[in-house]
Amino acid sequence: MPRVETTEEPGTVEPGQQQPGTAPAGRETVLVLDFGSQYSQLIARRVREAKVYCELIPGTAPIERIRELQPRGLIFSGGPASVYENGAPHPDRGLYDLGVPILGICYGMQLMAEALGGTVEASNKREYGLASLVVDDKQSIFGRMPDQMPVWMSHGDVISDAPPGFRVLAHSGNSPVAAMGDDRGRLAIQFHPEVVHTPLGKEIIHNFLYDVCGCTGNWEPLSFIESAVAQIRAQVGNGRVICALSGGVDSAVAATLVHRAIGDQLTCVFVNNGLLRLQEGERVIDVMTKELKIDLRYVDATDRFLTALAGVSDPEAKRKIIGREFINVFADEARAIGLPTGGRRADNSGETPPQKVAFLAQGTLYPDVIESTSHDTNHAHKIKSHHNVGGLPDDLDFKLVEPLRYLFKDEVRQVGLALGLPGDMVFRQPFPGPGLAIRVIGEVTRDRLDTLREADWIVIDEIKKAGLYRQVWQSFAILTPISSVGVMGDLRTYANVVAVRVVTSDDGMTADWAKLPYDVLGAISSRIVNEVAGVNRVVYDVSSKPPSTIEWE
Ligand code: XMP
Repeated sequence: MPRVETTEEPGTVEPGQQQPGTAPAGRETVLVLDFGSQYSQLIARRVREAKVYCELIPGTAPIERIRELQPRGLIFSGGPASVYENGAPHPDRGLYDLGVPILGICYGMQLMAEALGGTVEASNKREYGLASLVVDDKQSIFGRMPDQMPVWMSHGDVISDAPPGFRVLAHSGNSPVAAMGDDRGRLAIQFHPEVVHTPLGKEIIHNFLYDVCGCTGNWEPLSFIESAVAQIRAQVGNGRVICALSGGVDSAVAATLVHRAIGDQLTCVFVNNGLLRLQEGERVIDVMTKELKIDLRYVDATDRFLTALAGVSDPEAKRKIIGREFINVFADEARAIGLPTGGRRADNSGETPPQKVAFLAQGTLYPDVIESTSHDTNHAHKIKSHHNVGGLPDDLDFKLVEPLRYLFKDEVRQVGLALGLPGDMVFRQPFPGPGLAIRVIGEVTRDRLDTLREADWIVIDEIKKAGLYRQVWQSFAILTPISSVGVMGDLRTYANVVAVRVVTSDDGMTADWAKLPYDVLGAISSRIVNEVAGVNRVVYDVSSKPPSTIEWE
């Protein structure tokens, strides 16, 4: 099971409370109606890559909600259900007559066929994997396409008859109707254009967006920055905002954006828990204060964290302690800044002053939002936050500012660069909230942290020198609790074993160990044993996830 940042817990936010104007006027929006496909997020990403703003909403969302968002087009995702099954999710039937183009994909196609009078049948041959698509009608989504192309199929049911008024646009060996469409912009395809195994899938989505929906492509980071700044100003007014920086890209971009909007009304808090990597704290302070001129409160809480961790070896206990201490330190800072106002306070004059509105800016991203909302229309907006400060005491009554809640990670990076954040911060590899505490195996002490820091620096340095830093998901060192015998000069040594972990991954959920060139491994090893006192052996971790995890603890 993936572990999440211990300083984060799901919080509940009232619908609309901190959604700064979804789909503002003038922005072309396409909606993906999610029927439970594992690829739904990917469809949304592809649409954004085509420079059209896109949101994912539950497939069963009421038509009023969809009208409000004024979409230029709708995409029905695939899904695991079968259309005739009891309890299978269906879209509001009124959508077919909304006058907005629709592209149904896989299950989305079957929904459309069933609703408009076609025939959907369980196929005796499940079609899974690559298929050859033969294009019968080279219009609309198949404009400028070859006669035949490889596509990725994954379905049991097939359409045997297209609904009245629909033309068959393409077929494949097992699907007599692999694509269909009518003159009202209602289109459907049996294959998945969003996956890389459909090489021309991007063009098909592009054709739907531009040729069928009439989009012009006005979604890009710069236009996002302008509208986000305006929304933050509107939301915050002359209130004050506090933001916890983690050193990672999400909180840095969120803070920079909020700062661009409201300047000195923002105060950032950066807590050094003593578990950071070499020079990491200094780097954050430098960028935020010297380059971006953000008001930053730096709290060196090293002693507090290390005291609390003394004698603790259990990984989950370490996580709990670190999470708890972080909340305590952050809450103290928030109170010291003079923010929030859960209840009315009396000042010295005995009068009750008007409440100051206090906001907490967080770097929540779209995948976190989707994860907590898309499959469930009934639940009010539960936010599973990332890099966030969950579990604050009740007297800290913040409203949330989440300017990145509609962005994917790669978009956040583009926005970060456009805002002037340095590349090394924007492309920083993920780093766990509990930091080096879960990489010093066993008890965490100052000395052992220092040893690990030096070894870790060398790993990163060599990986960067080899040009691999952005290609791998994470690269780091672990200080094992093992001592081994070695020889240095004529002397026998008995010293620490450092493990090196470098993995490739798309999302951290699964990972493979990186097949690093031997000379890179050799350079890392010889530098660590030569330069880091107290280490005489380096081993490389060749386990993938699953069954191992990325971190050792
Ligand atoms: P595992 O070790 O579970 O790690 O394979 C998957 C990803 O999550 C990161 N990770 C954490 N991040 N708090 C975090 O913020 C944690 O407690 C934590 N544990 C693991 C890990 O670095 C990897 O990217």
